[in-house]
Amino acid sequence: MWPFPHNFKPRRIVVPTIVFGLFVTLSFLWIKTGSNSSQATTELEIQSKPSSERWPTIPNIVHYVQLLPEPQGKIQLELKHFISIYSASLYLSPDAIYVHTDATDAEVERVKSSQDVSDKWARLILTLPKVVVNRVTAPDYAGNGVQIRNLENKSDFVRAKVVYDFGGIYLDWDVHALRDFKPLREAGFANIVGLQKDNLVNSGCFMAIKESEMMRLWYEYEHVVYDGEWITHAVILLSNLSTTLVQIPYEVLILDRYALAPSGWERDDAQELFGSHYNAHAPPSAAADPQRPPLTTADAERLWKAARSSSREEWEKDYSNSYAIHAFKNIEEAENPLENFDKITLQYVLSRRSNFARAVYPAVQHAVESGIIPLD
Ligand SMILES: *[C@@H]1O[C@H](CO)[C@@H](O)[C@H](O)[C@H]1NC(C)=O
Ligand SMILES: *[C@@H]1O[C@H](CO)[C@@H](O)[C@H](O)[C@H]1NC(C)=O
Repeated sequence: MWPFPHNFKPRRIVVPTIVFGLFVTLSFLWIKTGSNSSQATTELEIQSKPSSERWPTIPNIVHYVQLLPEPQGKIQLELKHFISIYSASLYLSPDAIYVHTDATDAEVERVKSSQDVSDKWARLILTLPKVVVNRVTAPDYAGNGVQIRNLENKSDFVRAKVVYDFGGIYLDWDVHALRDFKPLREAGFANIVGLQKDNLVNSGCFMAIKESEMMRLWYEYEHVVYDGEWITHAVILLSNLSTTLVQIPYEVLILDRYALAPSGWERDDAQELFGSHYNAHAPPSAAADPQRPPLTTADAERLWKAARSSSREEWEKDYSNSYAIHAFKNIEEAENPLENFDKITLQYVLSRRSNFARAVYPAVQHAVESGIIPLD
């Protein structure tokens, strides 16, 4: 286990303090009223316990997994990976961002001090404040003996394990946070997942308390059901588990698909998300401001009026009900590439001509204004 700050410790400290306070108070009562107070002691102690156990807070720790194709290979990360991790660090203000990787320590050190332009994004990512590199070994075989060939498949095993061990929020590198997850983490559920377009549970963005029973079962049964297919051990298993465990109060909350994965993997979804509209006017949006206080009920009517009078372009998506976007790739990329889209570059984001660019712009602009991304 690795030492890190998370939200459980303060709670554990609060409970003994309350109990000790009660003990002092009750001893005093006992002196005054004699043995009648023993019943009061039992009642008060019973009341103080469940409230802390019933409202678990999911730790504010973010997890990414980066496995290499070869054991001695190079870490290769791009601007799109940077946008994901930078958005998470900006909007979630996590206590730590773990990058779980099987890269060697020497490779991690090389990247952190590399002056090579090809390492630019990897260096910026690994040297961000709060980023902690954690060495992991991905399994080559599932417990049932089936070989795990593919990196993404291996990552499915690592993600379940690290979220079980540490608690926190797992993000795929193509998930981009749009706002703080705090209200979700503090909703009182041990596990929170979200649906995707096909109404199955998305395995690219989920969160759980440390040592959650659902994460333990997911990891255990991944080894049982693994069959080398794309989704059996991941999306399908996680969906089956989540829907089963909803029966247990506070165990799992399943959010609708717009919460964490509003887009999809089909070509049309990717076209809507990434395609540029060259006649679009860049909207007057500004850099994200982490100092700005969160919205409150007092803002409700103003927000509603602004929404009613907003003049959205006809292609433009409203992500106001999304905590994150899972920017799936176009699965038909090889035979049917997108129109008006090549790749995610700084220029592409800053010109704000697509839904993707508009969604991630405030975070990217913040990185530009604070000098983290040099405009060269
Ligand atoms: C898992 O491996 C299978 C077989 O190699 C492959 O078809 C599938 O695409 C992989 N899944 C992922 C998520 O990469
Ligand atoms: C998930 O549930 C479906 C429907 O009950 C079942 O057919 C399937 O085998 C289950 N798969 C896994 C991996 O649990």
